[in-house]
Order: sequence, then C-alpha cells, then structure tokens
Amino acid sequence: MPGFFSVQTSVYQGLIQTFRHTLPIDDSIEPVSLCEGGTPLIPLPNLSRELGLELYAKFEGLNPTGSFKDRGMTLAVTMAKAQGIKAVICASTGNTSASAAAYAARASLACVVLIPEGKIAFGKLSQAIIHGARVLQIAGNFDHGMQLVKQLSTSLPLALVNSVNPYRLQGQKTIAFEVFSQLGRAPDYHALPVGNAANISAHWMGYCELAGEMRHYPSAIEAVYAKHPVKVEKQSDKRPVMLGYQAEGAAPLVLGHPVENPETIATAIRIGKPQSTEYALASARESGGWFRALSDRQLLKAQQLLAAKDGVFCEPASAISLAGVIEDLQDGRITTGSTLVLTLTGNGIKDPDTVTKYQLDESSLQQVEADYDAIGKLIGAVI
Ligand code: F0G
Repeated sequence: MPGFFSVQTSVYQGLIQTFRHTLPIDDSIEPVSLCEGGTPLIPLPNLSRELGLELYAKFEGLNPTGSFKDRGMTLAVTMAKAQGIKAVICASTGNTSASAAAYAARASLACVVLIPEGKIAFGKLSQAIIHGARVLQIAGNFDHGMQLVKQLSTSLPLALVNSVNPYRLQGQKTIAFEVFSQLGRAPDYHALPVGNAANISAHWMGYCELAGEMRHYPSAIEAVYAKHPVKVEKQSDKRPVMLGYQAEGAAPLVLGHPVENPETIATAIRIGKPQSTEYALASARESGGWFRALSDRQLLKAQQLLAAKDGVFCEPASAISLAGVIEDLQDGRITTGSTLVLTLTGNGIKDPDTVTKYQLDESSLQQVEADYDAIGKLIGAVI
C-alpha cells in the first residue's frame, strides 16, 4: 500500500559493512554477521531531571544476543573463518559464551566455552546451549577459565575469541563512533562497567580515532594494523572523560592489585585478574577519568532506578555505571549539567533470577483471589 508507511530502502547489514573503512580487515572478507550494532542511544529524561545531567543510555542489550559482545564477536568469528580455523574457544562469565556460540553457529564452526560452575545467569547459559556450543563448567572462576583457554588455544587448532583477540576490541570501538554520530558530538563523560577491562579500552580507542589519533595498546593490535593499515580522520576535538566502575568484591583496578576470589551478585563482572588492565588504566589516565567500586546493594538500586524511572531494563553488571555516576555526582567529581553516556552492556532479560531474588517486595507480587471486589480494592490503593 504505497504511502501507508515509509518503506525502508536500505537494509542495515551489520557492523562490519557499516564500519569497514575503520576496521583492519580486507574488503574481500565475507562478514559473519547477525546485524549487530546500530543500538539506540536512549535519552533518560526522568533520571536526567533528578540528577541534573543530560543522561543517555547506549543500550547494548539490544544487540542480537543481548550484549555488547556481538560487536567484537562478528569480527573475531569472521577472521577465524577467513583463516580456515574450524573451532572457537572462550572463557566466559556468560555473555561472551552466548555471543561466541551464536556467531560460531552462524559460521558453521564448532564452539567450546568454559564457564564458572553455578555463577552465570541462566539466560546466558541457555543461549550457549541452544546455539549448540560445547559448554564446560569448571570448578573455578573466570580467571581460571581464562588461563586454561589461553593455554588450550596455543596448543590446539582453536581460535581464542575472548577480548585478548585483537579483533574483539576493533569491533567494540564502534560504540564510540555510534555515540558520536547519534549525539552529534562526544559526551563530557562516558561511564561503563569494568570486568576483564577490554570494553573501556575499546571505547577509548574509538574516541581517540575520532579525535584523529591511533591507539596501539595491545601488541597484537599493532600487528593487525601493520597487516592492514587503517586511516583515521579527525572528526572531533573533544574526547570524553572515561569512568570505569567495578563491584566492591571484584575491584582489582580500584585496589591496584589482582583479587584472588572475586565475588559479586553481578556475575558478568566477577573477575579478579583483568586481561586488559594496562590498557584500561591508560584509558582512564589519558582521558582524565577514574575507577570506583560500588556495593552490590548500590548496583541493584541503580538497576531498579533505570527500569522504574526511565523504562530501561539492563542486567545488574550494566547498572553499576549509574550507581557509580550517582556516587561521583554526590562527591562533586562529576559536574552537574554535563552530558553523560552510560553503556548499558547487557539486557536485563538475561538474568531474571536476580530480580526475583533481590528486587521483589510484597507490593510488587501479590496473591489475590480471582474476585472483582478483592481486585478492585487493591487497584484502589494504587490509582
Ligand atoms: N557488562 C557485561 C554485561 C559483561 O558481560 C561484561 C563482561 C562486562 C560488562 C565487562 O566488560 O570485560 O570488557 O570489562 N563479560 C565477559 C563475559 C567477561 O565473559 O561475558 P569487560
């Protein structure tokens, strides 16, 4: 019916096709894509008013597998396939495994994931299973898993798709490109949760490239650029201050040393020995930013605020950025009136158990007879 609705004339083809000129991969390489990226930058008007900020959520929970991992995974799996590797491996607190499993399935590659037993959200575990990965639960944490997959991928023909794979950061840097184009400028601050510490490094890499500067943090990335040089063009004079938030029981970057037994409700960031520590520290230092630790109680409160005040449901780890911003505002470290972007790294629907376990009170779920008057009385108390 012509004119009834506007017809989309160009179909979005995913991150590699959109940002190919900024990525160190040959034009001849066919992307393994699930149309990741292109996530919305959602204004948060109610929280903005309350906090005295211009606050936005870059909602990465709207990627195909529900987290930002898809941005790096499209590149890592594309390159593994292009190099003729038949299987990928990763250690994961949940989201990486879900993403690796989905992209490996798409590329017809085998996928092995190592997860800490009993410590990953159920939604993420079901994703890895349904996509056909071989899921191995280890009696250890993410850091133990990471050590094992690094060893296994050197001795066996497996592509390691954790964020130590240089292509992962290349994909994740595109968050900065999208924020810049959605906002029309770089924000004053950009806040995000920090676990294995790659995402903050990737964000900073993206903002630096927008400012016309290359960042060559991991030596592996230099090798990738050397094989396929990428030209950067200065588009922005400004770069944001980078704010990295960690859970109190898993805060090696705040403490300045590794944590042997990391613990937090936010299982996604239950990490004590981040692989990208050096690059994350450089990102905070170069941008004038900092790290801060928040309690589980504070991050659960922030998760509830985002959902109840502005309608965005992210997973517990993602909400830590709002918890940190609230504290830093109170301490006067963040200037009121500033523009601030929170990367909400994962979708709340992945981890419903944490909500029913910790966010429930007697008014949010009530037993009532199937009776008009009884229900009418309860509604009367609400409206
Ligand atoms: N937020 C979520 C939802 C995550 O899943 C992760 C990491 C992070 C934040 C932290 O990002 O590691 O780059 O600092 N999850 C990894 C995983 C470790 O295995 O899914 P980072």
